[in-house]
Amino acid sequence: MVESRMKAFRMRAIAAVDNDWGIGRDGLLPWRLPGDLAFFKKQTMGSVVVMGRRTFESLSPGASPSPLPGRTNIVLTRDAGYAPDGVTVARSIGDLIGLVGGAGRLSPSASSASSGPRAGSPDACGVAADVYVCGGAEIYRLLMPYTETCLITRVDASFGADAFFPDLNAEVFTGPSGEKKRYVLASESAAVTENDLASGRAVTYRFCEYRATY
Ligand SMILES: NC(=O)c1ccc[n+]([C@@H]2O[C@H](COP(=O)([O-])OP(=O)(O)OC[C@H]3O[C@@H](n4cnc5c(N)ncnc54)[C@H](OP(=O)(O)O)[C@@H]3O)[C@@H](O)[C@H]2O)c1
Repeated sequence: MVESRMKAFRMRAIAAVDNDWGIGRDGLLPWRLPGDLAFFKKQTMGSVVVMGRRTFESLSPGASPSPLPGRTNIVLTRDAGYAPDGVTVARSIGDLIGLVGGAGRLSPSASSASSGPRAGSPDACGVAADVYVCGGAEIYRLLMPYTETCLITRVDASFGADAFFPDLNAEVFTGPSGEKKRYVLASESAAVTENDLASGRAVTYRFCEYRATY
């Protein structure tokens, strides 16, 4: 059931990882890289973004959690009473797949939505737009069976992370029908060197795209 409904969308993970495939520390991003944040914004604007409850709450630490503007925000939680403003809540994978399969019924969280095709619903050519899996560690792993492409910013440093993306160079994954898949590096940008605003040190990173092969 889940498998037949997922054909209407393409699921892509988007993450920044360090040399250990680390993505987070103490519930937050370990770094602050303006160029990578801009890439994330440009890539996901106007689309559906899916994230776990902990990542959603980490977006605005110390304040009421608020959705990423201009995107349809879906937050995964098992908490039946969780209902923050401006987001759609999914309480299981089946719930999520049902939502993104019929995402034309969802609306972006703020008026700045782009004019592109509404994510999750086929565009005029019948091609489904992208659904972006935005973390954190539990949610990336949970949705790997459905994830065809991973947009990975590879930061060339180690940050002592305590939350990790799956190691795409080493792990074998299982698709929704039990098929085995690996990811291969399909493209890699030139190196970008930027000051990390969290640590104050210069770091180098590359934008990489990994694709599933069966
Ligand atoms: N570097 C990056 O690109 C990046 C991106 C995003 C996040 N991060 C980092 O990742 C870390 C957070 O990751 P995390 O693994 O702790 O948390 P998470 O994946 O953001 O959220 C986990 C939560 O998702 C819900 N959940 C999990 N499985 C579910 C299921 N099957 N059905 C329904 N809900 C489900 C649960 O919420 P309830 O407890 O409410 O039930 C669970 O506590 C932070 O450090 C964050 O900064 C990094």
